[in-house]
Amino acid sequence: MSDSAYQNHLSILRKRFDQALLETDFDGVILASGRLTYYFGDDHSHPFHPYAMAQQWAPFDLMPDVFIHLQHGETPRLLWPAKQDFWHVVHAVPEGGWSDQWRIEPVSSLQEWLPQISGKTAWIGPEYNEAPGLNPNLSVNPEALLHRLNYQRAYKTEFEIDCLWRANQAGAAGHKAAQAAFLAGKSECDVYRDFLAASGQLSNQEPYPGIVALNENAAVLHYEKKNPLQPEAVRTLLIDAGAAFGGYASDITRTYTAGQGLFAELIERVNTLQLSIAAQAVHGRAFSELHQATLAGVASILHDTGICSHGVEAQLDKRIPQVFFPHGLGHLLGLQVHDVGGHQQDKNGTLRKPDESAPFLRLTRTLEKDMVITIEPGLYFIPMLLDNMVNNIAGHGCDLDLIATLKPYGGIRIEDNVVVQEGRSRNLTREAFAELQA
Ligand code: GLY
Ligand code: MN
Ligand code: MN
Repeated sequence: MSDSAYQNHLSILRKRFDQALLETDFDGVILASGRLTYYFGDDHSHPFHPYAMAQQWAPFDLMPDVFIHLQHGETPRLLWPAKQDFWHVVHAVPEGGWSDQWRIEPVSSLQEWLPQISGKTAWIGPEYNEAPGLNPNLSVNPEALLHRLNYQRAYKTEFEIDCLWRANQAGAAGHKAAQAAFLAGKSECDVYRDFLAASGQLSNQEPYPGIVALNENAAVLHYEKKNPLQPEAVRTLLIDAGAAFGGYASDITRTYTAGQGLFAELIERVNTLQLSIAAQAVHGRAFSELHQATLAGVASILHDTGICSHGVEAQLDKRIPQVFFPHGLGHLLGLQVHDVGGHQQDKNGTLRKPDESAPFLRLTRTLEKDMVITIEPGLYFIPMLLDNMVNNIAGHGCDLDLIATLKPYGGIRIEDNVVVQEGRSRNLTREAFAELQA
């Protein structure tokens, strides 16, 4: 990663924050990475994920109790925990050219520096109960400022896109190993272990808990178990798993099958649909339109493969595609897998919730250059939704005998990470897989 990409990133962030502070009448802001939290009644902490708004400023992973203090026209301050601790690792400030633009100050407690901050100051991030008592000028998580900062997180800098690219490279390497493990007949646990090893991470470093679903389990959208037993048959692997780089996430799903029948054809058709929708994810397109186009694409697959006798229009009228594709097409991606601001239409926090035909859609903004999003159509055979269809949709037109032969395969999802551009967008995930093949 070049120092200049990071320096440009920093100067863009500084401009964004200065403008947001000006508009909301604050003199400065403190960003908190967050504190360790503990299991109830125990002395073990939960895995730590730094708060994204603080992480965005650093070119390395932040640890707990780091603070960033920004004031108009001043060099940003990095308040670094300097602890006397022989039980745990005491982290040194990472060295590098990045630090030229910072004032780095080791601190051992809030009392040491918070009372000295003058001017109207916003505290953004996880709350520390003692903070407001230490400085009367503090406003904790003021909404007007948060709306502005959240809204702008959607527009990635070149530095951020590079981090997302590297997260895709690592994720794709993991997926390739997972595919081989599946074809060798390994268990969900072992497929997962191979994914982690090849993507260079431990499970507590994943950007989200990886989903590794064999056979029927692929019909559970967020299947969280990992069965240690070898499967009795090698039918389907649905793996939805990513990696992180500099805190930025990849969010990748692939579905594989061992055989050549209708399910293999369905994977191929969903893949073609996914590529076609990803190619349309360009500057100026409303994401909800792409979601509607995906529902139509799913209807077309259902019709062409004999799963549903109705044509596309009749299926859309009866909401048949939603039975097989019940989730949203995708979401903003960044430091958070489901990045903030997906429903936010402007910097003031105006929301557009999805309509009832797509209640789980996480992104209702019009796509703009430098947004990074996922495109993740699916087609599943989910017993609960199929039962609901049979009971509630008169004349559904679906071939239940054919569907019964597909249920043991669970379902399909294919998910890529796309940088929105003008004219032709950039598919980070396909690029990363292509690089592995080269
Ligand atoms: N892995 C979570 C998602 O695809 O949204
Ligand atoms: Mn996703
Ligand atoms: Mn995913």
